[in-house]
Amino acid sequence: MFQELDRLNPDAILGLMTRFRADDAPTKVDLGVGVFRDLSGNTPILDCVRRAEQAVLAAQSTKSYVSAAGREEFNLAVEALVLGNGHPARAGRRTRTLQAPGGCGALRVGAELIRAAAPTATVHVSDPTWGNHIPLLGSSGLRLERYPYYDAAAHELRFEAMLERLERAPAGDVVLLHACCHNPSGADLHASQWRALLDLLQRRRLVPFLDLAYQGFGDGLDADVAGVRLIAEHLPEVLIATSYSKNLGLYRERVGALIVVSESESRADAVYSHVLQIARSIYSMPPDHGAAIAACLFADSELRESWVAELAGMRNRIKEMRVLLAQHLRASTGSGSFDFIRDQRGMFSLLGVPVAVVDRLRDRHHIYMTSDSRMNLAGIMPYNVKYVAEAVALACADA
Ligand SMILES: Cc1ncc(COP(=O)(O)O)c(C=O)c1O
Repeated sequence: MFQELDRLNPDAILGLMTRFRADDAPTKVDLGVGVFRDLSGNTPILDCVRRAEQAVLAAQSTKSYVSAAGREEFNLAVEALVLGNGHPARAGRRTRTLQAPGGCGALRVGAELIRAAAPTATVHVSDPTWGNHIPLLGSSGLRLERYPYYDAAAHELRFEAMLERLERAPAGDVVLLHACCHNPSGADLHASQWRALLDLLQRRRLVPFLDLAYQGFGDGLDADVAGVRLIAEHLPEVLIATSYSKNLGLYRERVGALIVVSESESRADAVYSHVLQIARSIYSMPPDHGAAIAACLFADSELRESWVAELAGMRNRIKEMRVLLAQHLRASTGSGSFDFIRDQRGMFSLLGVPVAVVDRLRDRHHIYMTSDSRMNLAGIMPYNVKYVAEAVALACADA
C-alpha cells in the first residue's frame, strides 16, 4: 500500500528552521518562525498563565472526558471576549461556540461545516494569505479562489481590487478574512473599509469566515475585533475561528474556538448539532488542559488584569521593533520606502523584496525569513535591529 506514496518535500518553514539551527554564525537572526519572542529571544509562558495553570492543577480532581463541545465556561468566555457582552447576535441567542484544537482546528471544523451546508460554495482567500489556510480549508474538499488583498512590492492594500473581485462572487460563497494583524502582510482594513466590505457582503449575500488569531496583538483586545463585531452584528450568518496560541502563549496546548452565528436561535441549534458531529468525526473532543487554563484566567478578574498588561507588553515590544526597524532602514537606505513597517499591525510584515534578496540576506547576513520576504518582527531585538536594517540595505543595493 505505501509503495504508492512518494516522499513529500519538507514544509518550507521547517526547512528554514533546520538551516537556521545549522548556521553557527553568532549574528544569525530568525525572522521566519511565527512565534512571539521576548527580549531574551524566548517564547515565554505568561505569568498569568502560569498562575492559572497552578490553580487548575490544584482544583482538578479527574481527567475524565469533557465533551465534543469542550468546556462550556470557556466557550461562553470566548464569545464575550470576541463579540463583547451586549452583542445583538448573542442577545438573540444566535451564536454557538465550539472549543477547538487551536485556531487550525477551528478553521478545519468551519471548513467541514461549510462543506456540509454548501458543498459547491467557493471560499475566497486573500492574496497573499497565511500558507496553512490553503491546506486547512482546501483539504475539506472546498474550492478555493484568491482575491487581491495586498501588493507586497508596492507595500499597499489592494482594497478596490478586492471589492471588485468579491462583487463578482456568487451569492452563498464564503470570504475568509483576517480579523486583525493580517498574516503575512500586517496590513489591516480601516474602519471605513470594514463598513464598505460589510455593505458588499450584505448586498452580495456572501458569508464571512473571520480568522482571529491575534486578538490583542494589533491595538488592543477590543480595538482588534471592531471589524468582527460589526460584521457579526449585521449579517445573518458568520463563522469566526479564534486562537489563543499567540495572545495567551498557549501554542502547544492547542486552544481555539469556532463561533458560528446563525440566522435564528433554532437555526443555531441545528447548525451546532452538525458542528458537534464534525468535531466527533475528526478528533472526538478537544484537548482540555489549555482551555481549562484560559477559562480560569478569563473568569478571575485579577488574572485577567495581569493578562491584559502582559498582552500589552507583547504588543508594545512588537510596535517598538516596528518603529526602530523603520528608523534604521531610513538611515541605512536613505529613503522612507520601508516606513510602512512602522504603521502595520501584528507580528508580520512583508519586506516586499525579490527572492534573490531573501536568499542574500540568509546566505551573506544569516538573516532568515520565508521566501515571500515575511518577517516576524518579534524575532528582532534592540541589539540587532541596526544590523538587520543595514543588511537589508546592503542586500537590496546588491540586487
Ligand atoms: C492567520 C492564522 N490563523 C490561524 C492560526 C492558528 O494557530 P493555532 O492553530 O496555532 O492556534 C495562525 C497561527 O499561526 C495564524 O497565523
